[in-house]
Amino acid sequence: MDRQTFLKTCGFACLGGSVMTLLEGCASAEYVAQTILQDRKIVLKKTEFIYIQKDKRIERKYVLVRNDKFRFPIYLRKQNEQTYTALLMECTHRSCELNPQGEYLVCPCHGSEFSNQGVVQNPPATRDLSYFKTSTDDENVYIHL
Ligand code: FES
Repeated sequence: MDRQTFLKTCGFACLGGSVMTLLEGCASAEYVAQTILQDRKIVLKKTEFIYIQKDKRIERKYVLVRNDKFRFPIYLRKQNEQTYTALLMECTHRSCELNPQGEYLVCPCHGSEFSNQGVVQNPPATRDLSYFKTSTDDENVYIHL
């Protein structure tokens, strides 16, 4: 193999590795749901909580909802078919954006933790998260603003 062929082969191998890394990163990224704004409600289909992987139907425990009205996303968690919790992902300590981690929302700035119901679990934050009323019908989830 001459030098030019060797470099081309290595270049494609590296490119392939980079693409795989990007795809893996996307697979683990938080899912942002497709929504519409209707009057003073954010509307999303219940099917946003479902995805198919290797022919299996898998349910997400939560999705993120973004809306221009808010600087922070909304964490929408499914409790059961009729009950959803919608929390603003703004830390009540000094307004950093929270990260979902397992059953908790964790602040990367100073380490506060909140339950998936928005209740403070660990300081320095002392106030629970802001939340939105939700409702459902057979097809949709509504977040009331
Ligand atoms: Fe979240 Fe300080 S801003 S813990």
